[in-house]
Amino acid sequence: MHHDFDLLVVGDANPDVVIGPVPDPIEFGQREVLVPAGSIVLGGSGAITACGAARLGLRVAFAGRVGRDHAGGLVRDLLTAAGVACFLVTDDEAGTPLTTVLTRGSDRAILTAAGTLARTVAADVPPEVLATSRHVHSSSYFLLPRLDVPALFREAHRHGATTSLDTNDDPAGRWDTGDVLAETDVVLPNAAEARKLSRRADLVEAAAALAEGGRLVAVKNGADGGLSHDGHELVQCPTITVSTVDAVGAGDSFNAGFITGLLSELPAHRRLALAVACGALSTRAAGGTAAQPILAEALAHLPSHGTDQT
Ligand SMILES: Nc1ncnc2c1ncn2[C@@H]1O[C@H](COP(=O)(O)OP(=O)(O)O)[C@@H](O)[C@H]1O
Ligand SMILES: [Mg+2]
Repeated sequence: MHHDFDLLVVGDANPDVVIGPVPDPIEFGQREVLVPAGSIVLGGSGAITACGAARLGLRVAFAGRVGRDHAGGLVRDLLTAAGVACFLVTDDEAGTPLTTVLTRGSDRAILTAAGTLARTVAADVPPEVLATSRHVHSSSYFLLPRLDVPALFREAHRHGATTSLDTNDDPAGRWDTGDVLAETDVVLPNAAEARKLSRRADLVEAAAALAEGGRLVAVKNGADGGLSHDGHELVQCPTITVSTVDAVGAGDSFNAGFITGLLSELPAHRRLALAVACGALSTRAAGGTAAQPILAEALAHLPSHGTDQT
């Protein structure tokens, strides 16, 4: 099978307006409050994962939907500049999604206007791209109610591809995944999401539960690094020390590292260490993509660097 892409990401892409650090409390009543910094960067879990993977050297495609507006043009330009092949449907009825991230220390408030996300469907993904990608990743499951991810993943499997899912948060708090996990080879939640998805309080138990049936699970645990489980073996990896500016998109950069490790057939501990390094290194600059590492840089941060071929 000829593959045009190593990775197809289907999901969310939007400008992130990052402002902060914001005071506590935030004042309403039309008060003008000055904050130290603000920028507009590429956001959306899917878009950040796509950029991270392209930076690591994968051939990456992104499929999704934007509005006929400046925000949609910005998303297209920033993905293209990152080396990602864009397959974006332009919607005349809804606007490009837009997120405002209010930062305060290591915490952040995230306000999203979903726009075209709620109108994204599986038919937005060009069949020939789906048929010629080695791996298909879908992001922000609960923000994309009309996207039939199980159908996309079934089609990916039919073409011999592997699949991964980062649900991210569920704003409705229902955590109903339907039958998507049955079609998911790799699930990539953060710690809070792993607990909610598995309905288990203990993180190792949560990972083991999500891994049932031989699924691969990698759980992101912020400054505590990450862990992975394949239904038999638990692997844990502490994070590396970096000078963190903000953690926007760290989990999405982790996804890029994990998928790269998967496609390179790295052993489990090294695959997780690569993901953790990619997450940590991405926190060195504001927003999700500015500090994403190239592969050599990420590998140089792995504990056992130099002891094998990767
Ligand atoms: N403050 C931090 N210092 C070092 N590494 C971090 C930090 N925050 C995140 N990371 C790295 O990024 C990964 C993903 O971050 P996390 O915040 O857990 O995910 P998400 O963004 O999905 O919530 C972590 O597993 C870790 O490797
Ligand atoms: Mg996340």
